[in-house]
Amino acid sequence: MLFIVLAAGLGKRMKSNHPKVLHTLVGKPILGWVLSACRSAFDPGQSNRIVVVVHPDMAEVVDYLEWWKEETGIKGVENVFQSERLGSGHAVIMAKETIDRCEKGERVVILSGDVPFVRPQTVQELVQCAKSCDGAVLTMDHPNPQGYGRVFRDPQGFVAHIVEDKDCTSDQRSNQEVNAGIYVFEARALSWALGRLDNENAQREYYLPQTVEIIQKHQGRIAALKVDDAIEVSGVNDRLQLVALDRLMRLRINHYWLAEGVTIVDPENTTIEPEVRIGIDTIIQPYCFIKGKTGIGKDCVIGPFSQIADSWIDDGCVVDRSHLRGVRAAKEVHIGPFARLREGTELSESVRIGDFVELKKTVMGAGSKAQHLSYLGDATIGENVNIGAGTITCNYDGYHKYPTQIGKNAFIGSNTAIVAPVSIGEGAIVGAGSVIVENVEKDALALARGQQVQKPGRAAVIRERNKKQP
Ligand code: UD1
Ligand code: CA
Repeated sequence: MLFIVLAAGLGKRMKSNHPKVLHTLVGKPILGWVLSACRSAFDPGQSNRIVVVVHPDMAEVVDYLEWWKEETGIKGVENVFQSERLGSGHAVIMAKETIDRCEKGERVVILSGDVPFVRPQTVQELVQCAKSCDGAVLTMDHPNPQGYGRVFRDPQGFVAHIVEDKDCTSDQRSNQEVNAGIYVFEARALSWALGRLDNENAQREYYLPQTVEIIQKHQGRIAALKVDDAIEVSGVNDRLQLVALDRLMRLRINHYWLAEGVTIVDPENTTIEPEVRIGIDTIIQPYCFIKGKTGIGKDCVIGPFSQIADSWIDDGCVVDRSHLRGVRAAKEVHIGPFARLREGTELSESVRIGDFVELKKTVMGAGSKAQHLSYLGDATIGENVNIGAGTITCNYDGYHKYPTQIGKNAFIGSNTAIVAPVSIGEGAIVGAGSVIVENVEKDALALARGQQVQKPGRAAVIRERNKKQP
């Protein structure tokens, strides 16, 4: 099956320097949603290809397609250019060579790059609908049809023609059945009709919907599949529509997780991206952003204002007002408030990370703690280690990064600077305020700070002297 995604449109009303289809909805570009719908509607028995029609000045979209191919491993994705924006029909003509390479009887699915939330099942149903005819169009009875093309049926219920809003008579405008901009055609019928499009309309454009009328007039038949969920046909043309759809999809995702046994305290103000997975009895408090490929286990509490991306959080963890990216946390780990955990952080069971602690590429063994004001980077820390408040691994000399090792049961006193590369043995104790530049042996006490000087009675002398001064 061939999928054609139309994405060359200007998107003027977005008032943006970036292509419309790359604006995001719940963390994913609009085009990404459409490509996902194509992918889920692939016919497993056939070769499936996707052609995306873009304008030559949309290098960002071409890059995104490359990334998508890499990410999904789907090779049959290419773009064709439409250098003059002469309408949606003209955009499809740009893919005519590919259409003509289809086998006779093969179906071509055409989707608008700016209609993100059509369900894959709907696309599959539309393909089924088109099996016994020359094509099928997705429609909806829209409460507010303004701006959409209106769909007119023949007495048998097939689509006779589609009239754009701007071309409608006032009578036609009152028809509420609208064209969703998603179509399936038999390849030969489509190719033949594309050759007969004209631009005799209000916008002087080659309209794709005109193919329907052309096929119908030549004894072809185009069926209609009507959906009743407005989100499926909603297009994004400006930023108001973008945020309105974003909110709707966020609510859908959040309602899904509520039904799956996850408490989302404030579904209006919580963002959970589509690839996230969450276990039952977990509580997500307001203003959290849970992004990318994140998995959260059962019985966790994710505190307000947390941002978690591409991380795996096991059962029974607590994350409070913290930022996590690329983190793996085993069971019962407590993080935050106000921690920042970066890529390569791996925390074993029952680790405690407290306020204003930053970790990068750091592994901590079970039961270890860094409760206050620390930076630990490129460090491998054994189990039951206590990292005192204010401990810093000095892992960077301005040129290179160096590792730190801390053995199990070690105790690092507060405000210690650990100058990497260095290792601190198992069970060692480092005195507070030390600057550690040499390895510390197992079970040793290391003190690396100025010796304390004590002058008995001297404080009283100083006070007296200061009192006498005017
Ligand atoms: C289109 C339909 C309308 C339908 C509505 C549903 C046409 C003429 N009208 O209207 O019947 O109700 O979608 O959302 O198709 N595009 C190009 N190149 C162009 C022009 C458009 O690639 O030269 C692409 C756009 O990027 C977009 C799609 O075609 O993805 C539809 O074009 P758009 O201008 O958004 O049409 P609408 O007015 O929304
Ligand atoms: Ca549109």
